[in-house]
Amino acid sequence: MANHILILGLVVLTCSLAFAFEPSPLQDFCVADPSSSARVNGLVCKDPKLAEAKDFSFSGLHLRGNTSNPVGSKVTPVTVAQIPGLNTLGISMVRIDYAPWGIVPPHTHPRATEIITVLKGTIDVGFVTSNPDNRLISKVLKKGDVFVFPVGLVHFQRNLGHGNAFSISVLSSQNPGVITVANAVFGSNPAIADEVLTKAFQVDKNVVDWLQSAF
Ligand SMILES: *[C@@H]1O[C@H](CO)[C@@H](O)[C@H](O)[C@H]1NC(C)=O
Repeated sequence: MANHILILGLVVLTCSLAFAFEPSPLQDFCVADPSSSARVNGLVCKDPKLAEAKDFSFSGLHLRGNTSNPVGSKVTPVTVAQIPGLNTLGISMVRIDYAPWGIVPPHTHPRATEIITVLKGTIDVGFVTSNPDNRLISKVLKKGDVFVFPVGLVHFQRNLGHGNAFSISVLSSQNPGVITVANAVFGSNPAIADEVLTKAFQVDKNVVDWLQSAF
């Protein structure tokens, strides 16, 4: 009996894990129809007979992003929002430009593993494993080096050089999503109660207020 319950538990767990990822497409493609008001998990397909090359293409990834901002980096996304033909295909990409010493702050993609390659510069990258270890796994990447950020884990990048740098990443979702830790925790709308943040971070209310004011 205990065995049966265990097996049932494993089956349920396996199914729920499988459902957490994008399903395999059941047709050649499902070009997103942004004008549809239907709500589905993903985007509604337009008539496949009307699909054309521009539904599957994007131009401009050779262009440098504007990194004049407080963190010194700029993400140029190429997801289903830019290429409607990515709908249901479980993949997307981004270009990231870095000013000298610019960073991509600690963040996570709730729906995607990311594989990154550096095309210019030297970039320190790392991710942190789940509780309770919270081990930092990091590496300094040079041009041509590749690194993986497993799905859901908090990760960051930092340009270690005096010059501009850039990287390209591929992500295992048409819509990977981004949760920037600092913005989510200190910049939520409305704000998370001070009592939660003072205990979570073991600091005074004025420190919490000060951090919130930055987001
Ligand atoms: C880059 O962004 C900054 C800040 O938003 C802006 O002032 C500047 O004009 C932009 N530069 C270019 C070349 O677009």
